[in-house]
Amino acid sequence: MQATPDFLNAVTRNAAHYTPGEQVNEPGWIKLNTNESPLPPSPRVFQALAELVGNGDLLKKYSHPLGEPLLSALAEFHALDKSALMVTNGSDEALALICRATLEPSRAAVFPAVTYSLYKTLVANAGAQYRETAMIERVGQPYAADLEALEAADAAVVFLPNPNAITGEYFAREKLVSIVAASQKLWVVDEAYNDFAGAGASMLAHVQELSNLVVTRTFSKTYALAGLRVGYLATSNAALMNGLMAHKDSYNEDAIATRLAAAALSDRDWHRRIINTVLSGREFLRAELSAMGFTVYDSAGNYLLCKAPAKMPAAEIVQALRSFKILIRYYSGSQFSDCVRISVGSEGENAKLIGSLKQILGQR
Ligand SMILES: Cc1ncc(COP(=O)(O)O)c(C=O)c1O
Repeated sequence: MQATPDFLNAVTRNAAHYTPGEQVNEPGWIKLNTNESPLPPSPRVFQALAELVGNGDLLKKYSHPLGEPLLSALAEFHALDKSALMVTNGSDEALALICRATLEPSRAAVFPAVTYSLYKTLVANAGAQYRETAMIERVGQPYAADLEALEAADAAVVFLPNPNAITGEYFAREKLVSIVAASQKLWVVDEAYNDFAGAGASMLAHVQELSNLVVTRTFSKTYALAGLRVGYLATSNAALMNGLMAHKDSYNEDAIATRLAAAALSDRDWHRRIINTVLSGREFLRAELSAMGFTVYDSAGNYLLCKAPAKMPAAEIVQALRSFKILIRYYSGSQFSDCVRISVGSEGENAKLIGSLKQILGQR
């Protein structure tokens, strides 16, 4: 028999696959494993959706290539020029475009060893190398990122979520600004969870003055639109934006998503409600989990990284919770395989989690 021809190029032959957190579609599960919103999206989103029903004209035409009407709404909201913003298909697309436009075999990326694991996949699939900086221990956070090591690394592009994924560590904006301002590297600050870190936490305010800064943001968390796939990036570097545009699909965001996201953006009260629900749920979980013997690390995100109590290994806790139809995240084989990561759920979900954990640990 003839050998199957290999049509893949060298980069793709070595391509990495990302393993997303488990998504269950059966009803009855409590999902505290992928940092989704505990509340549904704003009622304005559903109103906007209802108004689109029957609008064949909208669907038969291509969507706006720059993501209007969302682009204008974002420019107004953040007081940024439209030319400094790009609407993307989730912030994952923004991250992928940055990798494709900036990396090559001789230009590596760097990120903390504990962070959003998609970066590895995106860098490898852009045909480049990545470096990882070792985590350092700080009070309340044994897996803290070393900003100085990121800056010192032999790499052209730094990826840093603020707050950091998995750990929840927040980096003070002033500190980041001073490092980026003195750096020759491109700093990509991934603000997927930044709205949970309080007012004034965002680096968006510094996009105009720092031409080596790109900020990526998402509607997946504090707007409860993870399934819609809407994100955006901001940079004042026109040459970089031009390069990113070259890699972007012409119609990368669809006509419905841009309208629904604009409706969500307009509802500031609902956005606040989602944030407040997470903040109070986070404190409830922190107190309850600590009382049960977990070591709960500092987090400014909508999730808590916690070391399992001595009486039961993390992997067994994760398995036991499955029989209660509760999913949390476990990173087997990692340097923190003694920990679990728990997304903050709704009041009812958090209570169910704590009740189930009490049963599980009570039997030990
Ligand atoms: C740090 C970080 N950045 C980006 C994303 C992806 O966001 P989006 O849904 O906008 O693609 C996630 C998803 O959990 C994340 O943890």
